[in-house]
Amino acid sequence: MQDHASTSFPAVVTANGTRDLASWIGANRAAVDETLKDAGAVLFRGFDVPGHDDFDAVVAGYGDENFPYAESLSNAVRVNLTPRVFTANEAPPETAIFLHHEMAQTPIYPSKLFFYCAIAPDGGGATPVCRSDWLLERLEAEVPDVVAKFETLGVRYTNVMPAENDAGSGQGRSWKSTLSVETREAAEARLKELGYDFVWLEDGSLRPTSPRLDAIRTLPDGRRVFFNQLIAAWRGWKDRSNNPSKSVMFGDGSPIEDAHMDAVVRISDEITADVAWQQGDVVLVDNFVVMHGRRPFQGKRRVLASLIK
Ligand code: FE2
Repeated sequence: MQDHASTSFPAVVTANGTRDLASWIGANRAAVDETLKDAGAVLFRGFDVPGHDDFDAVVAGYGDENFPYAESLSNAVRVNLTPRVFTANEAPPETAIFLHHEMAQTPIYPSKLFFYCAIAPDGGGATPVCRSDWLLERLEAEVPDVVAKFETLGVRYTNVMPAENDAGSGQGRSWKSTLSVETREAAEARLKELGYDFVWLEDGSLRPTSPRLDAIRTLPDGRRVFFNQLIAAWRGWKDRSNNPSKSVMFGDGSPIEDAHMDAVVRISDEITADVAWQQGDVVLVDNFVVMHGRRPFQGKRRVLASLIK
C-alpha cells in the first residue's frame, strides 16, 4: 500500500496577487486541474468572493458545463439562487450528512462539485472529505472478501420520496420534483425508463428501488474507487420515512449487514479530513475520487454548491 502522508489533502491554493478568483481560475485552469488530479479536492482561500453571484462567476470562470439540480435525481431539498448555484442542503443544523459521492445512489451524477461558504458557522459545520481510492486500498488490504462481494454484486438503493417536499429531512425531495413530473403515470414512465422498481405507499409517497449500480469503479486513469452512497445510506438515512437497514442492499437483493460496513465506516472516519469553512472559501471536488458530507453546526452556516456535468 502506498503511503499517502505526503499528499496534502485537500490541496490549498491561497490568493497571491489577484483576489479575483473568477478570472484567476480561468487563467490557471490547467494548473488547477493538475492539482485536482493529484489531490482530489482543492480549497481556494483568501480570494474575494462576497456573495452567490460572485461564486457563480467563479464556476463560470472555470468553464465546464453546468449539471442542473432540476435534472438530477438527488433526494435532497435545495433552492436555486442562480441557474448554477443552489443551497447545499436544507436539512436542519443538528443533522449530520454522512460521506457520499454526489448522487451515486442514482444512475446520473456530476463529475465535479464546487462548494462556497457565504456564511461561516459559529461552531461545527465543517465539510468532511474522504479519498475513496485510499479507502478502497485500505479495505482491499483488510477485508478483501467484503470488497469482492461489493464488486461482484453491486448495490441497490431504496428510499421514500414524499408527496410534497419535506425540508425537515435530509432526503425530503418530493417525487414530483425529483422526477420532474406532475402525475403518477409520468412518474412511473420515468422510473421504468431509468430501470427502477417502485411501490406507491398509502400516504401518496413513492418508494423506488434503483437498478443494480456498481459499488466500486475503475476510473479512466486506472484508479479504483469506492464510488457509492453506502456510508451515507448506512449511517444517515434514519429520518422519519427511511429505515437504514432497508435503504441499501446488495444488487441481488440480499441484505447488507454490520459485518460488511464496520470496516468501511471505521476506515473512512480515520482518513477523513475536515474543511473548516471561512467566509469566501471555495472548494472544488472531484466527485469520482472524493466523498463529502456535512458536520452538524451551530449558527447560521450558509454553504452553496454548484455541480458540473
Ligand atoms: Fe452531497
